[in-house]
Formats: sequence, C-alpha cells, structure tokens
Amino acid sequence: MHGFIYIEFEKFALNHLSYKAWEEILAENNLQDRQYSPVAIYPDSEMKNLLSSISGRIQLPQEQILELFGMHIVPDLMKVYQAYIKPEWHTLDLLEHAESTIHFAVRKSTTGAAPPILEVVKSRHNEIVIRYVSERKMVEFGVGIIKGLAHFFNEADNISVELQKNEAEGSSKIIVRQLF
Ligand code: HEM
Repeated sequence: MHGFIYIEFEKFALNHLSYKAWEEILAENNLQDRQYSPVAIYPDSEMKNLLSSISGRIQLPQEQILELFGMHIVPDLMKVYQAYIKPEWHTLDLLEHAESTIHFAVRKSTTGAAPPILEVVKSRHNEIVIRYVSERKMVEFGVGIIKGLAHFFNEADNISVELQKNEAEGSSKIIVRQLF
C-alpha cells in the first residue's frame, strides 16, 4: 500500500494513542525502523498488522477504525490530488470521477500503486452506486472517504451513505444519495 496512506495512518493513530503506545505498536510489529516515504509502496500486511494492534489497544473494531481513518484522510487527499479535482465539483461529482480520474491518476503517478477498482454508476440524478472489489477488503475506508468528502464540501446533512457488504461474493456496494 501507498506510503502516503501509512504516513496519514500514523497521524491518525496519534490522535487516538499516546506517542509511547504508537512506538510500542510499531515494535510489536517489527516496524520500529520503518520510515515511510510518500512515493513508495509497502506490503499490505503492515497495514493489516497495525490495524489489528490499534484495534486491540483502543477497543474499537477494525471496520470502525478504517471508517474513521477514511474520514480523517480526506483534507490531505484533496490537497495532494488537487490537480485532478475540478473546482466546481461537489461530493457526487467527485464520486462519479473517483475511478476514471482520481484512482487512475494514483496508478499512473506511483509505480506499484494499486487502489481498488471502483465501478461507479450514476443510477439516478441524485444517486451513485459504487461497487468495490479488492483483495484488501477495506471497504469501510472508502465509506469513511465518502463521509469525509461530504463534510469537506459542507454537504454532510444532505448526503446519505449506505454500505451493502457481500462477504460471500467478496464485493460490496456503497450507495450514496443526495437527499435534497
Ligand atoms: C479524493 C478522492 C480519492 C483519492 C485522492 C484517493 C486516493 C487513494 C490512494 C492514494 C489510495 C492508496 C492506493 C495504494 O495503496 O496503492 C487509495 C486507496 C483506496 N481508495 Fe481511494 N481515493 C479517493 C477516493 C476514493 C473513494 C470515493 C473511495 C470509495 C470507495 C475510495 C476507496 C479506496 C479504498 C477502499 C482504498 C484502500 C485500498 C483497497 O481497498 O484496495 N477512494 N485511494
């Protein structure tokens, strides 16, 4: 996974844990010497292990941590990938272009980056359905990103996000509606 995501994860973790606890978690996972670079890719297993350790420490399920992390990362994602985001876009516009413009740019700009393939369908004028398929099974991170985007665009009261997980098929659907 992208080093940028790990750097952001550390910032997020330090909002919930002391520095000492974070250092202990790194040591537990043999990551005490790891220096994440924002232009490199690291094994997904490191994220899985860090998530599991933090979940144990702060007594929150991993799914909830992923969603909170997704919400947390949005302002920085919007800064870093600003060049691919049109100034007139709001939440639904950005979601409509998340795969074709943004994840596409992520794959091009960092060799080895592998964001999930999102199948995005605008099912009605006020509704977007996103199908998520990824070996990483981190759909709640995407749900958090969407909620964070709604906050970012001051549309949180006007956007609903529904997650339909289908563990058997290994895919999930996120339905996003603009309410008024
Ligand atoms: C501002 C818009 C967005 C930006 C800049 C962005 C960027 C990124 C980046 C840099 C990664 C890491 C890729 C890697 O490690 O190889 C990533 C992963 C991910 N993105 Fe996005 N993304 C955006 C929108 C979305 C949206 C709308 C979703 C909704 C489903 C989403 C879902 C995910 C998930 C779940 C991952 C984790 C990796 C995985 O599950 O395979 N992203 N994204």
